[in-house]
Amino acid sequence: MTRILFATSEVYPLVKTGGLADVSASLPEALCKLGYDCQILLPGYPAALKAARDAGSRRKIRFRHGQYDVSLWQTRLPGTAVTLWLVDCPALFDRTGDSPYQNDDGEDWWDNAHRFHLFGQIGAMMAAGQLDLSRRPDIVHCNDWQTGLIPVLLGNVQHPPKTVFTVHNLAYQGLFSHETFRALGLPDYLWRYDLLEFHDQLSFIKGGLVFSDAITTVSPSYANEIQTPWFGYGLDGLLRHRSPQLIGILNGIDTRIWDPAEDPWLDFHFGPGNLKNKAQCKARLQQDMGLEVTGAPLFGFVGRLVEQKGLDWILAVLRPLLESGCQFAMLGAGQAHYQDRLQELAREWPQQLSLTLGYNEGLAHRITAGSDLYLMPSRFEPCGLNQMYSLRYGTVPVVHGVGGLNDTVFDPEDDSAANANGFVFREPTPDALFKTIRRALEVLAKRKAWRQLQENGMAADYSWRQRAREYGDLYQRLLADPYSIHDD
Ligand code: ADP
Ligand code: GLC
Repeated sequence: MTRILFATSEVYPLVKTGGLADVSASLPEALCKLGYDCQILLPGYPAALKAARDAGSRRKIRFRHGQYDVSLWQTRLPGTAVTLWLVDCPALFDRTGDSPYQNDDGEDWWDNAHRFHLFGQIGAMMAAGQLDLSRRPDIVHCNDWQTGLIPVLLGNVQHPPKTVFTVHNLAYQGLFSHETFRALGLPDYLWRYDLLEFHDQLSFIKGGLVFSDAITTVSPSYANEIQTPWFGYGLDGLLRHRSPQLIGILNGIDTRIWDPAEDPWLDFHFGPGNLKNKAQCKARLQQDMGLEVTGAPLFGFVGRLVEQKGLDWILAVLRPLLESGCQFAMLGAGQAHYQDRLQELAREWPQQLSLTLGYNEGLAHRITAGSDLYLMPSRFEPCGLNQMYSLRYGTVPVVHGVGGLNDTVFDPEDDSAANANGFVFREPTPDALFKTIRRALEVLAKRKAWRQLQENGMAADYSWRQRAREYGDLYQRLLADPYSIHDD
């Protein structure tokens, strides 16, 4: 049985800032169901250790590592049979607040480099079989910059396991100063433009991109995009160089948690071929969010309020849409200037725009279910999960045709009616977004055509079943012949 150690800085439901947490829970579980022995490695944040203690789990080993007391806890990811290892290092991970990366004022922890360096060191020791644990993995699967040093540190080990590095978001690179590089005690030879140095900074993500045996990213379109200067954030040259080892595998979603027929967060349920109750979900959502209960087109938005998600484009089109009677149910948290401008508009249009600031799992489900359209005009989107949740809930997405949005949403203007499930604009401008929304609203007025879009969205398979198999095939190819990871 192939053994995988899946190293990540977030996992649902223990700690989450975005889609990485969802993927880090549902992909390992899907791999286990396919017969892989996939175990997760996560920093021992307070919420995770509490869950482990509550489950009666114990610390497996305890040791001194440099200046730190470290222990490893072995537990299970709540609600699953998946083994979860926690790197307990109170000096680095016993912090207040819900964010794994920031303090209560929204600033990055000053010692993030130290925190994720230690996490990487312990991950590499586990992977190399240097800790007193019986299991040594065949594959270490790393995710995003927080795990980028693991493939680097494994470079000095004899017969290391194969390493896979998944880019969930190239915009977050883990950049730190040269002093930090020295303070971490990383060997001097790594300070090179083709190794860890990036414009005179230490780049954690380059560790993963340079040193891993295979690089994956979370959609085929994003795999192509990051090899171009526009989306490559200065790393496109390196990614082009590594393109023989780079592939895009589309994320799946947890179809048990996101199932309109069973969703415990909803009062009314519906599904393919039976959309009657969706109208009830809409009315309940309007009531709950203080919107006028009418048949007006209702747009949903759930997400981080950051530039990536196209917030400035949304702000540019909101007013005319509000003037024409549309409603908006928005949930998110992020940059203060977006929050402030949305709040102003919500005050001005209380019956048409409702904004809930913060993180709210239940409301996210109710917005997904109750909206007619889902707004996702991301400037870039490695994969995106919300458009897939929406499709499954008969909520028609309006998206910018980039990354995973391009791979999951099909516009009637580009595709056959039998395939179309949403609306896609290509030009990166608010004007293009506005025109596409107008087009969507025209179709919304035609019951039958709209229904067809909804049914097409609901009929597709967004589960991990097939997509996890693609990771499985990659692991097998890597173990058989590390120089040929593409199957074509
Ligand atoms: P990203 O990882 O870039 O933020 P994704 O679409 O991959 O985008 O995943 C975002 C995940 O986080 C989804 O599961 C989404 O529902 C969830 N999410 C984001 N913001 C909130 C919020 N304010 N409340 C509840 N869930 C949220
Ligand atoms: C990142 C990306 C998002 C992707 C998620 C999970 O946060 O921004 O597009 O869906 O990771 O892979």
